[in-house]
Amino acid sequence: MRSGNVTRYFGGMAVFGALVFGGIGSLWASWLVIERAGHPGQGRWEVPESARKMKNPIRATAASIQKGRRLFAEHCAMCHGDEGKGDGPMAEALETKPTDLTDRARIASQSDGELFWKISKGNPPMPDFEGTLSKEEIWHLVNFLRALAR
Ligand code: HEC
Repeated sequence: MRSGNVTRYFGGMAVFGALVFGGIGSLWASWLVIERAGHPGQGRWEVPESARKMKNPIRATAASIQKGRRLFAEHCAMCHGDEGKGDGPMAEALETKPTDLTDRARIASQSDGELFWKISKGNPPMPDFEGTLSKEEIWHLVNFLRALAR
């Protein structure tokens, strides 16, 4: 190679490298933005309007609330605490703290459909339960949460 070619060769490599690493850099930057938008921390869930409007098909009878209470002790209390205050044994280790489900204003401001959707879909570290529990069980949990935050 003549020196002119060498210069062109390394020049080309430098431009190529800048493009590749610049590309990776900006991909990484946009991933960070998306990552943060996806895990915005406590309270920010993108609940679709259709979910908000869902009607609870199960009446909040004492029997339903009792079923919800049992399911809560089994699946939720490790994070949300036996009384739902967000102080379960696993809560300490989580970056986003489990919501205090006895916060009356907070629960009252949400529709049954919204609570149903949140329990179904989760929001890390809150797991999703649509694969673990039946729809009916999740509605029992909604009825229990209403009773809890009364
Ligand atoms: C691994 C721990 C964990 C378990 C298990 C868990 N949760 Fe959660 N939960 C969380 C965390 C953390 C949040 C807060 C997430 C956020 O706001 O980003 C949360 C939020 C919620 C919310 C939303 C409250 C609001 O006002 O936005 C509801 C409702 C809820 N959990 C109900 C339940 C129910 C019911 C169960 C059991 C079926 C359950 N959770 C199990 C950790 C957990």
